[in-house]
Amino acid sequence: MNGKRAVVTGAASGIGQAVALRMLRDGEQVLAVDLDAARLEPVREAGAEVLVADLGTAEGCDAVASVGAGADHLVNAAGIIRLRDIFTMPRDEFRDIFRINVESVFFLCQQLGPTMPSGGAIVNLSSISAKLTATLETAAYAASKTAILAITRSFAYALAPQDVRVNAICPGIIDTPMQDRVLEEVARLRGITASELSDLRTATVPLGRGATPDECAAAICFMLSDAASYMTGQAINYDGGMVM
Ligand SMILES: NC(=O)c1ccc[n+]([C@@H]2O[C@H](COP(=O)([O-])OP(=O)(O)OC[C@H]3O[C@@H](n4cnc5c(N)ncnc54)[C@H](O)[C@@H]3O)[C@@H](O)[C@H]2O)c1
Repeated sequence: MNGKRAVVTGAASGIGQAVALRMLRDGEQVLAVDLDAARLEPVREAGAEVLVADLGTAEGCDAVASVGAGADHLVNAAGIIRLRDIFTMPRDEFRDIFRINVESVFFLCQQLGPTMPSGGAIVNLSSISAKLTATLETAAYAASKTAILAITRSFAYALAPQDVRVNAICPGIIDTPMQDRVLEEVARLRGITASELSDLRTATVPLGRGATPDECAAAICFMLSDAASYMTGQAINYDGGMVM
């Protein structure tokens, strides 16, 4: 990916950070975007240009679109999760999840996609929760991740004439700060320990483990690369076999 330019959102943590670091190692120029200025420091030190922006706002997306115009690659990894019982999920939290997880993906595809050169590619972070209902406390999050699959297909059609590919990845259990929060909060709601819940969840994974952020980043970089040049509009499970 030497000489290419990328925009990576959610680059201050977890999967987005691992993608940014992997791209920098491969010689790609990276615009690393996140709300959290302090935690962008590792990617800045590794050579990324950083942009602090709230992607849940039009102004935040506009700032990314203006600095990132013409990039070869876009990875939409910024996202939030709120764990709630499905019957008590408040409307404002539901809207926050959609504002950040869904609107940022739609509007960054809309604003950056048409500026991308032939051979460009986008990967949107969906989730295995878009395909499998196992954790009811993530119902609103799962709805947002399912919306991302429709957005991915629509932009795959819209950008195909300019040879820009758009795919989604559906990770299962990736060991990131978000995953730690999910374990702690769902365990609390169910009255068990995070370690007990972790064992129960891992037992549902045929490969018997979660993945590192860098393993997930490797799959994302493959989907962006020319090695995947005929793949568009797909939703690739990356889940140790949870969904086959
Ligand atoms: N970790 C998993 O197991 C897993 C599984 C399936 C899908 N995903 C998805 O992968 C993506 C990355 O997840 P992660 O586990 O690395 O999460 P994470 O919480 O470690 O990182 C998410 C990043 O997004 C940033 N962010 C949140 N709201 C923002 C906003 N309004 N504007 C800008 N940045 C914002 C956060 O500051 C954080 O740095 C998310 O979209 C998540 O839903 C993760």
